[in-house]
Amino acid sequence: MSVETLDHQRGSVYYLRPAPSSALTHIPGDNGWPVIGDTLSLLADPKGFVERRARRYGLVYRTRSFGSTSVTLLGPEGNEFVLLDNEKLFSSAHGWALFFGRLFPRGLQMLDFEEHRLHRRALSVAFKSGPMQSYLSELNAGIARGISQWPRGRAFKFYPAIKQLTLDLAATSFLGEGFGPEQEAVKQAFIAMVAATIAAIRVPLPGTSMRRGVQGRALIIDYLKRQIPLRRERGGDDLFSQLCRATWDDGSLLSSSDIADHMSFLMAAAHDTLTSSLTSFAYQLSAHPDWQEKVRAELRGLGLTAGEPLPFTRLDDLVLTEMAFKETMRLSPPVPSLARGAVRDFEFKGFQIPAGTGVRINLLYTHHMPEYWPDPERYDPMRFDAQASRTRHKFAFVPFGGGAHMCLGLHFAYMQAKCFTWHLLNRFRVSTPPDYRPQWSVWPVPYPHDGLNVTLTAL
Ligand code: HEM
Repeated sequence: MSVETLDHQRGSVYYLRPAPSSALTHIPGDNGWPVIGDTLSLLADPKGFVERRARRYGLVYRTRSFGSTSVTLLGPEGNEFVLLDNEKLFSSAHGWALFFGRLFPRGLQMLDFEEHRLHRRALSVAFKSGPMQSYLSELNAGIARGISQWPRGRAFKFYPAIKQLTLDLAATSFLGEGFGPEQEAVKQAFIAMVAATIAAIRVPLPGTSMRRGVQGRALIIDYLKRQIPLRRERGGDDLFSQLCRATWDDGSLLSSSDIADHMSFLMAAAHDTLTSSLTSFAYQLSAHPDWQEKVRAELRGLGLTAGEPLPFTRLDDLVLTEMAFKETMRLSPPVPSLARGAVRDFEFKGFQIPAGTGVRINLLYTHHMPEYWPDPERYDPMRFDAQASRTRHKFAFVPFGGGAHMCLGLHFAYMQAKCFTWHLLNRFRVSTPPDYRPQWSVWPVPYPHDGLNVTLTAL
């Protein structure tokens, strides 16, 4: 079966020519409601929906949602098969085109195979230890400043506060000097672009979130392109300046379009995921004061003065902090599911699946499978001690994906989480009201409906 390509040059969004749904009737599953399929049930309760499907149909099932029929492979084996993709069967671009096609048509996640490998190699220079140390010094300064402005002794909404802080941190550690004189316009454009990635209407019709996102993209790309010559002349240690100096294997510089596309995607990939995971982390530390104390004791055991920057060389000493953060992402993975498009026919667990099929894996489901996580709803960071981690299936915990497309910002994310925890817990006790059980949405990223009422008490 043949496959259409994504036409990046002309800025068009093409989708993989879908496998006819008649070619998938042998896969357990159903078509859901007429016209809308299972879209609404999936959006209303993503975790419950998948669990019901798994009970009814098993670990490989078919669903019709977002206008097409796809096949979901559940569990660590499905994760490993799709993410490692030893036979180069799965296109990330075709999986994510619906969400990223108009907004990040050339972001790293929208490239495949050899082209992806070359771009990823060129970008990885910005995530080496030298640049990471300089991002950490910006994070230290920005987080200490941000937290000092949060209210103490009374409840405030944590989620919008951390969202704003993450945006401010991106402005300094990603862009260096912030957004410059166009600050407000660029910030608003960025917010519109990120919001559009999850908009229900995927066509940029007037008045829609997608239209604002597409306009936001145009403004940001224009802004970044204009900045590139200045950054190349002046230098700088921020992520953007690193990309402006990044080269291909032959030593030539990346084009300004490539830099602008990668930069805008990197900022978006970091923003909601960090906001979501740090919100879930603050909640778990408040809900489990014993773990809050353990983490605080570890931080204090570093022998540094509170308020001092967290040194890059001490990140690996924060073992319990990392375990507590991992357990948070197990329970609430910021990216609950991943999408691919099959570029060739393949077989999985005895099912023949044709090229053109949308293929999904579900991190949220895997992270709650009792076979791998006994008493799965319980918060227990000890699941991540060295012994338990060694013996568990490697693809049972995949908040950052795996294989060729594994999150490029993984170490950045751990670094920001540790730096944030250092500045927060060293100075404050974090609490939520007794018996407080906020409602969380799972999709597109986990977030608390009420903004999460948190109180900081000075220590
Ligand atoms: C807790 C925070 C984060 C989580 C949970 C997370 C999760 C993920 C996941 C699951 C993927 C794989 C997507 C796929 O296979 O389809 C991914 C890819 C990616 N992430 Fe992250 N991410 C986080 C933070 C970041 C940060 C801070 C950055 C940048 C500084 C970043 C940049 C990227 C990029 C560029 C990709 C695409 C990689 C590729 O296609 O080769 N992420 N992320």
